[in-house]
Amino acid sequence: MMNKLIKYYIVVLFLIVLTGCNKANNAKPKEVVTPFNAQVDSLMALMTLQEKIGQTVMYSGGWSITGPTVSSDNKKYIKEGSVGAMLNVYSAKGTRELQKMAVEETRLGIPLLFGYDVIHGFRTIFPINLGLAASWDLNDIQKGARIAAEEASAEGIHWTFAPMVDIGRDPRWGRISEGAGEDVYLGSKIAKAYVKGFQGDDLSKHNTILACAKHFVGYGAAQAGRDYHTVNMGHDELRNVYLPPFEAAVDAGVETFMTAFNELNGVPATGNKFIFQDILRNEWKFNGFVVTDYTAINELVEHGFAENEKHATELAIKAGIDQDMMSSANRLYLEELINEGKVDVSLVNNACRKILLTKYKLGLFDDPYRYSDEKREKEVVYKAEFLEAARKSAAMSTVLLKNNKALPLNNKQTIALIGPLVKDKENIIGNWAAAGDRKGKAISIYQGIHEYLSASKIVYAKGCEIEDFDMSNFEKAINIAKKVDKVVMVLGEDYDMSGEAASRTNIKLPGRQTDLIRAIRKAVPNKQIVLVLMNGRPLDLSEEDNLVDAILETWFPGTSGGYGVADVLFGTYNPSGKLPVTFPRTVGQIPIYYNMKNTGRPIPPRNPKQDYKSNYIDVPNTPLYPFGHGLSYTNFEYSEVQLSATSIKFSDTLTVSAEITNIGDVDGYEIAQLYVHDKVGSITRPVKELKGFKKIYLKKGESQTVSFTLTVENLKFYNNHEFVTEPGEFEVAIKGTSDFDFKQTFTLN
Ligand code: NOJ
Repeated sequence: MMNKLIKYYIVVLFLIVLTGCNKANNAKPKEVVTPFNAQVDSLMALMTLQEKIGQTVMYSGGWSITGPTVSSDNKKYIKEGSVGAMLNVYSAKGTRELQKMAVEETRLGIPLLFGYDVIHGFRTIFPINLGLAASWDLNDIQKGARIAAEEASAEGIHWTFAPMVDIGRDPRWGRISEGAGEDVYLGSKIAKAYVKGFQGDDLSKHNTILACAKHFVGYGAAQAGRDYHTVNMGHDELRNVYLPPFEAAVDAGVETFMTAFNELNGVPATGNKFIFQDILRNEWKFNGFVVTDYTAINELVEHGFAENEKHATELAIKAGIDQDMMSSANRLYLEELINEGKVDVSLVNNACRKILLTKYKLGLFDDPYRYSDEKREKEVVYKAEFLEAARKSAAMSTVLLKNNKALPLNNKQTIALIGPLVKDKENIIGNWAAAGDRKGKAISIYQGIHEYLSASKIVYAKGCEIEDFDMSNFEKAINIAKKVDKVVMVLGEDYDMSGEAASRTNIKLPGRQTDLIRAIRKAVPNKQIVLVLMNGRPLDLSEEDNLVDAILETWFPGTSGGYGVADVLFGTYNPSGKLPVTFPRTVGQIPIYYNMKNTGRPIPPRNPKQDYKSNYIDVPNTPLYPFGHGLSYTNFEYSEVQLSATSIKFSDTLTVSAEITNIGDVDGYEIAQLYVHDKVGSITRPVKELKGFKKIYLKKGESQTVSFTLTVENLKFYNNHEFVTEPGEFEVAIKGTSDFDFKQTFTLN
């Protein structure tokens, strides 16, 4: 092997001297000039067309199944040099084996790139992404991504298909669980945190991995929340809501993008020149490479956009797509298309160049096995400090939705633990749990509570399953509820009721779980019932809200979830999470989100009973729990906002401050949120827009002034394709929720 590699490097070095520097100097203005351009040029000079096309092909190793199985003889293709990247292969040994094949058995020995869905952890699983977003803690999110990269990189992974930065405003859509929720500002900040966490500050380090901003674009706006469904939206919504988190990822230096499955205004994303060329490349100057989603090139045929797979291949490469995940389209048709003059060979050269450049940046040409390190794998995976970090993230991600003094628990009470998720270790790590262990490694809620309460104080009954309709075990649950001081029920969804291809039309608790709460409430009308929830989407909790005394949303809290949730239940961590997404009263209100438009017939705030206004006749317009909502075991009082001026010019900045006081009995964190309302616009503006947030810690009785600086940049919006600022009056507030009425204004002249 060494002989071959050495020969190869000699040839490459020779060519670098001969041609490389020259070409780098002649680079086109938009091309990134990296130290590797010359090497790539030299290597490409040695490559056949088939080998270049090979770099644009990705196949699955099938260790995890994340899409339809496509029959392909991967090993044969690797040896032929017709594969540039693999997905769904991991472990130092497994990746090394395939890498060896690519390096030693192909003509040029070009290393493979290994990609995987490292979404909220690799082995040590953090809360699902929607849960992480509920922490509003950018440092913690970045740290979680860093840990995921540490573990994944030791097991041979070079590239994660994350973050998913799709705005999600429809709880029916199963993939709302993988994103940062409904808000463009929060979503953009979180997108950056993930990219920085995964990629670190230096891609040549062996513990950093490529990030991938996905799914470009509009995937979260699928009609009726049905996965993969049609997306139609105007420029206002596209530019102001769905694009910014992707642009934020580009700003943070994201190396790759993934296409969305959906069509956008009639053109499927994987064949969409407008989004990939006009916006991503020309406007945002993105220089990395674009991979399709799984079989998305072939799907252009089902979309009715391409006549056949060959035509689809042509449309995708012409739209600016560089790598084909699992369609086999590039491998089968690109050469033919070039020979027929339908595709210009420069498109393949460009795609190949970007992919090779990325491999150079990762250091794979120096040492193709640097990520597949069994020693590091053993040292790094499930490190105690990672599990501890996951515990903290779990605690920070919980959202206390309701509390009538039923929480925190104390260690003197006896408790009935009831529900199908009390002892669960399979669902608790959520969907897209990468190489996380669903059998033994996770800490259940039961185990977590045990840390605080002796066995003699806990009684347990499952009561029912998550999804079936059997009520025969209700009685045991009712009996134990009668014998204790307090009831804690742990209920929710199955982990695979959210994630890809997991849309629901009914967003209530599945199976007989609500019946179980009802039965227990009836049996113990005067006892406090605490509901602990695990779910991957906002649920309709209207009935539960009336039946129980406290609700703690824990999402799917991850490997150390049981400990983290128990820390919150017993008050070791005072809950500080705030909803990153609205919880509706009923599925019929969807789409419902805080920064909606006013309409021409709004109902007066807090007075829903009006004729011929924009409201329902059967439920209020308001959600059950609004965006930004989340209680604490203490209370925070907000002063009215103070403004540094009531009128500012375009060049000025405005300081907005409020004093926040912890008026309760315990110390705690609060997430202060800055909202603005642009009252009149050349296109209408949302009733509220988040423009900043800060997480502060206040001891009981303590006050702190929180200040934000607003600039004209913060007040801009897209009107059609233009980013504009308009003079006029703005409302402004700092609050601990999005549910409030503005009282202060300023003008921009
Ligand atoms: C399909 C999903 O949409 C995408 O997010 C994921 O990265 C790929 N499958 C690979 O598993």
